[in-house]
Amino acid sequence: MTSNPWWRSAAVYQVYIRSFGDGNGDGVGDIAGIRSRLGYLRELGVDAVWINPWYVSPMVDGGYDVADYRDIDPTFGTLGEVLAFIEAAHDHGLRVIVDMVPNHCSAEHPWFRAAVAAPPGAAERKRFHFRPGRGQTGELAPNNWRSSFGGPAWTRVADPDGTPGEWYLHVFAPEQPDFNWDNPEVRSEFLDILRFWLDRGVDGFRIDAADRLAKDPALPDVAAVIEEAPGPERGYPAAHEIYRGWRRVADSYPGDRVLVGEIWLELRHRAAYHAPGELHTSFSLDLMCSPWDGPALRAVIDANLESSAATGTPLTWVLGNHDATRVVTRYGREDTRFVQVGGTGGDHGRPAGHSDHALGTRRARAAALLMMALPGGLYLYQGDELSLWEVEDIAPELIADPVWERSGHTDRGRDGCRVPLPWSGSAAPFGFSPDHADSPPWLPQPAAWRSLTAAAQSADPDSTLGLYRAALRIRRAEPGLGDGPLTWLPSGRDVLAFGRPGEFACAVNLSAGPIELPAHRSVVLTSGPLAGGLLPPDTAAWLRAA
Ligand code: GLC
Repeated sequence: MTSNPWWRSAAVYQVYIRSFGDGNGDGVGDIAGIRSRLGYLRELGVDAVWINPWYVSPMVDGGYDVADYRDIDPTFGTLGEVLAFIEAAHDHGLRVIVDMVPNHCSAEHPWFRAAVAAPPGAAERKRFHFRPGRGQTGELAPNNWRSSFGGPAWTRVADPDGTPGEWYLHVFAPEQPDFNWDNPEVRSEFLDILRFWLDRGVDGFRIDAADRLAKDPALPDVAAVIEEAPGPERGYPAAHEIYRGWRRVADSYPGDRVLVGEIWLELRHRAAYHAPGELHTSFSLDLMCSPWDGPALRAVIDANLESSAATGTPLTWVLGNHDATRVVTRYGREDTRFVQVGGTGGDHGRPAGHSDHALGTRRARAAALLMMALPGGLYLYQGDELSLWEVEDIAPELIADPVWERSGHTDRGRDGCRVPLPWSGSAAPFGFSPDHADSPPWLPQPAAWRSLTAAAQSADPDSTLGLYRAALRIRRAEPGLGDGPLTWLPSGRDVLAFGRPGEFACAVNLSAGPIELPAHRSVVLTSGPLAGGLLPPDTAAWLRAA
């Protein structure tokens, strides 16, 4: 490993493959669609892409239900196309991070099919969590765990003779059975899958639900009261041993391959995964969950900096992803947080309500400059560079996210942030699919996105795309940005002002009125126009300090 590996400072672009670009005209994004847009990503100025799962899958949960970890779903293309894509991305100077989904597979995975076909107690069942039910005839689930998508975390199977049999655990949808990570076969299978992809040139893995693999082997009930520490269904110590094994494999390859965990735990529990020899890093989801509020953001930044200093792990900031309400919509609302209640509560209490998109856009642009000036790396969710908003009026019959059904139609789920990107033109499919495509985009795009297409914004330096391009270009050239120290500058309570090495400074105004800029020699970039030399509310400035 080099002393300053790329992932300590990288700007990574998240490609939600179904919705990025459709090469073959079936209305669903694919590998050809990403490949033909590598030039866009290079021009945007990112260092790497993370691609959501592209493996063979029945697509019950957008590909997070994997039936074959070593092959590509035909909807997206072929393994050959993926290999050519990885090479092409490298030729464009982009690294490739793939999604690894180790907590669960698809109910169609050969191992799970074999488990269901085998009798209770069989070795095939021991790769999953099968248990007899409680109650007189086993009619009650083995414990009280709830699925993160709503409803119980257990489903009962029929024995081979048709009578009701054991239950199996799925902390997400029933079509996503959880692997039993105490089984050595499961552990060695995944080490082999990691090697399969590392041998094919991927630069790292985003580890899905990384804190859910290891469970308390007794599978006890979850306490009714939210506990201080992670419960028996997540964060169990065995996880650390698992990731030490993964790390050894990743580090045995040249080129600084990275393991990035998706861990929805409080910071101090998440940091446990950064122990020496475990994950290289995990998403700092706290920025995304924080309200647009000076003291709250500052507290989140300070806590993350402290944790990063303690473990030596760089920060990886996130404002949006394929699970969260789009940042423009969040920041245009009264309640600007993202709330991922999830977990065993099975409650997705995402704040809702009217959103002022113009206000949200102003704030999201300021937040982008904030995020890019903070120490560490960052993940940009596709479409945030175009200021896309959450599509909140998808017709119920088109909603694909299992959360909608599992919540008894009380939570519309995550499709609103997964609508196919608008690339060009003045009407759907906005260049997402080729002209004369066979099918419309898998989710309908709002007509109003005509002004937000990449083509429309490309020509305009004041557009959000223009801002992202300029900011990423500056960030790359500026030695003081990325991983490194931060110094807070004196400021009012509702202002975030800090310096980075090289006399670089960033100021963000979260107060209600305009403020003086901190002392500076020149203004490098702003997220919106200054007003008579003052920094208006909801605006950020990058400065060359005095
Ligand atoms: C992660 C993914 C999410 C998926 C879930 C189950 O949270 O980001 O999209 O539904 O894991 O795999």
